[in-house]
Amino acid sequence: MVTFSMKRAGCAEHRRTARGRGSDFVAFFRAWMGDPLRVASVMPSGEGLARLITSEVTPATGPVLELGPGTGVFTRALLARGVAERDLTLIEFGAEFAGMLTRRFPEARIVQADAAKLKQCRLYDGAPAGAVISGLPVLSMPARKVMAILTGAFGYLKPGGAFYQFTYGPRCPISRRILDRLGLKAVKIGSTRRNLPPASVYRITRRPALKSAVAA
Ligand SMILES: C[S@@+](CC[C@H](N)C(=O)[O-])C[C@H]1O[C@@H](n2cnc3c(N)ncnc32)[C@H](O)[C@@H]1O
Repeated sequence: MVTFSMKRAGCAEHRRTARGRGSDFVAFFRAWMGDPLRVASVMPSGEGLARLITSEVTPATGPVLELGPGTGVFTRALLARGVAERDLTLIEFGAEFAGMLTRRFPEARIVQADAAKLKQCRLYDGAPAGAVISGLPVLSMPARKVMAILTGAFGYLKPGGAFYQFTYGPRCPISRRILDRLGLKAVKIGSTRRNLPPASVYRITRRPALKSAVAA
């Protein structure tokens, strides 16, 4: 009897999750129709990519900054990794997504802003963040904007902190020129076919020996 009701509860949960996913697809597609350059994808990332991009984050990472969270696929994966919701700051430019995130993650800090203006947002006192998870479409952004995003993000990252970026392309979406200019290095941490289209994730950190051009 207990097993039966648990199964029914499981089915109901499954139906609720499936309905939630369906409405996320509709919301995402509508947002893409309204602003294809900003949204840059017709559907949210899959759970395989969400697991990969959050795979090095632990509860000990400390505050985590997420850029371009959309409907919150990576946010949910961060919570599943044990990050406390109150340790999350989500920077989302789109009003349609920012409202949805506020309802879904009431303990997280949601900031509706351009990630290129991170510095002006004064998110923390000092640099306590352990990781930045980026869902931003950096490949379609001008170099100046990408530099502003990285400079702002590294300004909040503690020594040893990392910026994680995914891409559908064959190489790191942050150009060698920008990495050199900011004293950063990029390492591919993995790829997944469990995403449409398949994607890779890069870990971007300060170069150790040379003095980095971005604040430590
Ligand atoms: C490719 S979608 C990724 C969404 C989500 N992370 C996912 O993987 O499903 C890009 C997201 O970045 C947001 N975005 C684009 N440019 C932005 C900017 N300059 N500042 C903040 N968010 C931005 C879009 O509104 C959208 O939510």
